[in-house]
Amino acid sequence: MSELEWWRSAVIYQVYIRSFADGDGDGLGDIAGLAAELDHLVRLGVDAIWINPWYPSPFADAGYDVSDYRAIEPRFGTLADAEALIAAAHDRGLRVLLDIVPNHTSEQHVWFQQALAAGPGSPERERYIFREGRGEHGELAPNDWRSAFHGPAWTRITEADGTPGPWYLHLFAPEQPDLNWHHPDVHADMIETLRFWFDRGADGFRIDVAHSLIKEAGLPDIGERGWNRLPFRLQPIPGVHQTDHPHWDRDEVHEIYREWRAVADAYHPPRIFVAEAWTPDPSRTARYVRSDELHTAFNFDFLRCRWIADHLRGVIDDTLHEHRSVGATATWVLSNHDVARHVSRFARPQRGGVRGHHLRDLAAEADIELGVRRARAAALLMFALPGSCYVYQGEELGLPEVEDLPEASLQDPTWQRSNGTDRGRDGCRVPIPWTVDPATNFGFSRTTPAAAPWLPQPAWFGEYAAATQDGAAGSTLELYRAGLALRRAEPALGEGDMAWVEVPEGALAFTREPGFACVTNVDADPVEVPAGWTLLVASEPLVGGRVGGDTTAWFRTA
Ligand code: NOJ
Repeated sequence: MSELEWWRSAVIYQVYIRSFADGDGDGLGDIAGLAAELDHLVRLGVDAIWINPWYPSPFADAGYDVSDYRAIEPRFGTLADAEALIAAAHDRGLRVLLDIVPNHTSEQHVWFQQALAAGPGSPERERYIFREGRGEHGELAPNDWRSAFHGPAWTRITEADGTPGPWYLHLFAPEQPDLNWHHPDVHADMIETLRFWFDRGADGFRIDVAHSLIKEAGLPDIGERGWNRLPFRLQPIPGVHQTDHPHWDRDEVHEIYREWRAVADAYHPPRIFVAEAWTPDPSRTARYVRSDELHTAFNFDFLRCRWIADHLRGVIDDTLHEHRSVGATATWVLSNHDVARHVSRFARPQRGGVRGHHLRDLAAEADIELGVRRARAAALLMFALPGSCYVYQGEELGLPEVEDLPEASLQDPTWQRSNGTDRGRDGCRVPIPWTVDPATNFGFSRTTPAAAPWLPQPAWFGEYAAATQDGAAGSTLELYRAGLALRRAEPALGEGDMAWVEVPEGALAFTREPGFACVTNVDADPVEVPAGWTLLVASEPLVGGRVGGDTTAWFRTA
């Protein structure tokens, strides 16, 4: 594999910039904070970082409502800071992926403001999706589509003269109007944004809701087509044709990515993409990573998988099969800023579901110690699989979800839009703990006195602090460091093949050549290790030379 194909084996660390490190003491993470902690990431042993949106934004959806794609949010720093950060990362051998949000802009984006001002029938409105309402006076939404954040996906505007106007589409919050991807300006402007950041050294982009850009002509009702009407949580329904949703995963979206691939390939070294595409199954995900489209796509089937051995094996097999069929590499991920942290997911009976409300249903049965143990085993399993992986900030500390944020502190738009029934995603976004010192927000805010962090940190956060785990034998941070160092050193790891080894039900084992084996015991009796295998690293100590439950161990086989 050539150095140009680094992304086939890379481990990429997700920096949720608002919550990573606060360099100026205002309680919000920023570029200065990230710059100060690049060495933490180098020591961790990752190859690249992905930074969530850092562009100017009113923050109606945490920066996924972008008002200017080619500038930096002043609370995060300046464009010069961003350029210096990219250079500082490169100096340390870290590549940098940014986050592009092509489905929608902020309502504050100049295009949307122009569209509102320009009036009915104007070309400015054609860059978005405005439609007349239904009903005698246009008082009903144009169709039955729902916002991923609850409520209708349409908002009616009032014209400058005070009369009720048409409705505009927003698959997310009303502050995030959907762009019209049948408009040439939209194509051209996004490509300008790609080039703007590629020219400043960005190595690639994560593409936000990559599967949503194209809407079916005529914007038909979803009606009874059999789709789960909560769109962000695509669930396959047995026996129902799954590929005909009017706004998710439409075939025409792939033409856009062929355009983008050509833009990225024109750079030296070529720039890369990772798709956030929630699809019903791995065969649909694989379509995004055909050789003339995107390089990688998050494997959300793995993220959604329960801690159940045969489910894990099934997801691994299906993923590898589908990705190989198009010559692509698999991209493993356990957590991100949209789902409950996997420590807390794995801490419960494994009934499925990755959202906060799934956790709450089983709150009484949570066993965080068990969740940490399983999360450590899952990390070593993930690092041993063929392909690349993502690590969400804080998972290297074994951080659980903060499940009891005070209601008054909740910021996710789902909280308001669900009338206080869906607490949303804030529990995985709490500023991470660096030290045990609550006076500086557990080291999150570097200057003293620190402002309150944008989300409150619980008193127990210090137990998970990076400083406490640094150098502590058996800590999760040291396990991640050891696993990632071995992954880099072992020629068998990263992109390549694997072969299953038969082990008792409830366990998984596979070999990779040359001379490597991974054994994950989910819930079997302790698993015997073949004579001649020597231990490289394990998520828990072996039990009399055997791999105990909720444990992954790596071995040298020859
Ligand atoms: C997916 C992002 O990861 C999520 O945080 C955001 O709310 C939606 N896309 C809308 O941009």
